[in-house]
Amino acid sequence: MTRTPVNVTVTGAAGQIGYALLFRIASGQLLGADVPVSLRLLEIPQGLKAAEGTAMELDDCAFPLLKGIDITDDPNKAFDGANVALLVGARPRTKGMERGDLLEANGGIFKPQGKAINDHAADDIKVLVVGNPANTNALIARAAAPDVPAGRFTAMTRLDHNRALTQLAQKTGAAVSDIKRLTIWGNHSATQYPDIFHAEIAGKNAAETVGDETWLAETFIPTVAKRGAAIIEARGASSAASAANAAIDHVHTWVNGTAEGDWTSMGVVSDGSYGVAEGLISSFPVTTKDGAYEIVQGLDINEFSRTRIDASVKELEEERDAVRALGLI
Ligand code: NAD
Ligand code: LMR
Repeated sequence: MTRTPVNVTVTGAAGQIGYALLFRIASGQLLGADVPVSLRLLEIPQGLKAAEGTAMELDDCAFPLLKGIDITDDPNKAFDGANVALLVGARPRTKGMERGDLLEANGGIFKPQGKAINDHAADDIKVLVVGNPANTNALIARAAAPDVPAGRFTAMTRLDHNRALTQLAQKTGAAVSDIKRLTIWGNHSATQYPDIFHAEIAGKNAAETVGDETWLAETFIPTVAKRGAAIIEARGASSAASAANAAIDHVHTWVNGTAEGDWTSMGVVSDGSYGVAEGLISSFPVTTKDGAYEIVQGLDINEFSRTRIDASVKELEEERDAVRALGLI
């Protein structure tokens, strides 16, 4: 039976994450080895030529699942019929730019893209925002798409989740695959809170296995939360292949489900769970099944975690208030 290709739109397609992402999508790693895909690449006019070059390389891979590539600088065309949208292109912070300037510049990108998704995307659209500040950019896009169910707009904290898995595995000598139920709470920023109190390592509580709150507070949490800056310092450019890998993981898990007894971390619209203000796009522990996700309920939050979740949520509230004042939501 011939399947209809899934339309996957990638913004910022000519950027460094785009280059690490597109070949994996076209090879079937995003949606599955039996799912044909059609790519829509959105760039700004200056990025179109490089996007065309990437498309030539995609052609040269002769991927059996790749059924078409369209390149455009028009969001209305790029999101037409989109089933999955990866919003990667964003305005990077440049010298002398305040956070408010960054939010305003990105509002100019994510508001029209949200509207184009609202007006043109397929009914089953799933959106992942990667471009920073990812949570608040997702909030802006979501606000511009009132006809799309709010839960379809998500922000990426899977990279933070994967970083935390490896740090914990390296500390304990466990395999990453032995670690379950780790959580990233809050914002994809230095205030994020990687929580191991509910995590398990080969079936045993992770925090008890580590048994070292000083390591947790002074090494683990800052290493994970500031890893993005450490990569920029070391590489001279922000994370790209690992960010693309996390985007693949995020969508693959959303579409194909979490394993029994495990969960993942996604930035999703808060329903007020765990005291996170309703409507914020904040990272939570989530399970996924049949293309839908649910926030894991009923976890005990100790004092150590409460303070840190609250601090990150406070930052999200400040970002929300700033974009509200700018008329972006
Ligand atoms: P990059 O500068 O290499 O590429 C960005 C691309 O986006 C450029 O080609 C640019 O032309 C394009 N672009 C800009 N505005 C656009 C618009 N309006 N429409 C379409 N395309 C547009 O950057 P990168 O390294 O690929 O990173 C992209 C974003 O991802 C940055 O904001 C970065 O901070 C963020 N990021 C997020 C995470 C995360 O975990 N959430 C991790 C790493 C990087
Ligand atoms: C990352 O976590 O690697 C990035 O979000 C860092 C950045 O500022 O681009």
